[in-house]
Amino acid sequence: MNPSELILILDFGSQYTQLIARRVRECGVYSEIFPFNLSPEKIRRLHPCGIILSGGPSSVYAPDSPHPSPEVFELGIPMLGICYGLQLIANHLGGAVDRAARREFGKALVTIDENSDLFAGLDGQASVWMSHGDALLKLPKGFERIAHTGNSHLCAIRNREKRMYGVQFHPEVVHTPQGKRILENFVYKICGAKGGWGPGSFVVQKSAEIKETVGQEKVICALSGGVDSAVTAVLVHRAIGDQLHCIHIDNGLMRKGESEDVTRTFREHFHIPLMLVDASDLFLTRLRDVVHPEEKRKIIGNTFIEVFEEEARKSGGARFLAQGTLYPDVIESTSFKGPSVTIKTHHNVGGLPERMNFKLIEPMRELFKDEVRAVGRELGLPDTLLGRHPFPGPGLAVRILGAVTRDRLDLLRRADDIFVSELKKAGFYDQIWQAFAVLLPIQSVGVMGDERTYESTIALRAVTSLDGMTADWARIPDEVLAAISTRITNEVRGVNRVVYDISTKPPSTIEWE
Ligand code: XMP
Repeated sequence: MNPSELILILDFGSQYTQLIARRVRECGVYSEIFPFNLSPEKIRRLHPCGIILSGGPSSVYAPDSPHPSPEVFELGIPMLGICYGLQLIANHLGGAVDRAARREFGKALVTIDENSDLFAGLDGQASVWMSHGDALLKLPKGFERIAHTGNSHLCAIRNREKRMYGVQFHPEVVHTPQGKRILENFVYKICGAKGGWGPGSFVVQKSAEIKETVGQEKVICALSGGVDSAVTAVLVHRAIGDQLHCIHIDNGLMRKGESEDVTRTFREHFHIPLMLVDASDLFLTRLRDVVHPEEKRKIIGNTFIEVFEEEARKSGGARFLAQGTLYPDVIESTSFKGPSVTIKTHHNVGGLPERMNFKLIEPMRELFKDEVRAVGRELGLPDTLLGRHPFPGPGLAVRILGAVTRDRLDLLRRADDIFVSELKKAGFYDQIWQAFAVLLPIQSVGVMGDERTYESTIALRAVTSLDGMTADWARIPDEVLAAISTRITNEVRGVNRVVYDISTKPPSTIEWE
């Protein structure tokens, strides 16, 4: 975490930009994404040892295409342009890009012409992933070709003296099997990085930073029970000990045993002071008879802020708020593409700092979910907590269609617990992004013993996903589904029908509300 060991990525809107950052960090060097128009002064101040220009959907000649300041090419910092990034280098330094011909999408074989630096360790031909409309037609001044394909005469180029490189293909995706090697070569051989970045160095570095920032002040942290806030709290506690006060609000909408688990883990395992606030009556009273999903979300979000403010005041004058904001949350708001439309009002504690004048401590804001888990492991958090599926802020309220009552919550909790425990027993839980039960607002006819029943339906939702943005329904084996269905209808009074949701996202969403 030496600041001179930053690989700075300028984002031109590629769907793979996050992957570049992740791959560079997997090489042991810290990497961060910035918008394409980051000023040259800011770049100099960040003192990166290398710059990567990401790909992007535009054509460099299009009138509204994103271009960095021309000065960026004169900074003397080693540079790698990927796809659109390569075309930018060519466009700014006197090359030419062919706008019409030679579109290439998918797998291609490149022939390596020169393998002394960027392609060290690669020989002959390599399989790569292409995704471009435009192609390089003429070398920029001072550059030479280092790889080609049948279609792309200038598939990779370099100016050794200026330490500038460009590749037409995408080294960051898994379909370029030697891509990691290429990025490693760039980072170590060309940028001269020393490496050593990882969860261990992250914890040491961040603890020192937090200690320095906080001094003798108090910090509060809202513990939801999820991975992000748990890892944040343990890290901050490692840095400043009992100056940290954690608050867990039981809103009555948690999964079975969740509030108890959080309390036990933090108080007994980590000896971290934790205030458990049972606000379930207040939340459930305000939710009475509310059926509209957005209305539920708003009521829960506002009530959370109200309760948190009250409790924070009681804990006495904290100036800092620790939050488990992650990297994808950060770049979502600074990305080239700008904000997307609101599909659902997401609830987290994002509204708190402005209302309460807190200074923020967000030690995870540079990390991806799997990196947060690695940090959590480093800090000794149990795997049961680290491997837990994501859970929405509004909790079970958005998994009960129709009105939320204590009885319906109890029923859903029992069904959900059976679903999740059976998945764990069958060894499927860790392969699935999220699995949960949903209580539908309908009743249907069934038969139990010789009796006619008219009872509720439980829908089972289980999806695979990389980031929650898109998802596919999980192919759980029939016999596991059968066991789950039998147990739910036998053990959960009030349920006589179980259905399995086979919709993808899009067009559906993961949660039902
Ligand atoms: P959807 O349902 O929009 O969910 O496909 C995508 C992911 O986001 C989670 N989710 C939330 N997380 N606050 C959160 O912190 C929320 O209000 C919220 N709503 C949905 C959802 O569980 C899935 O992982």
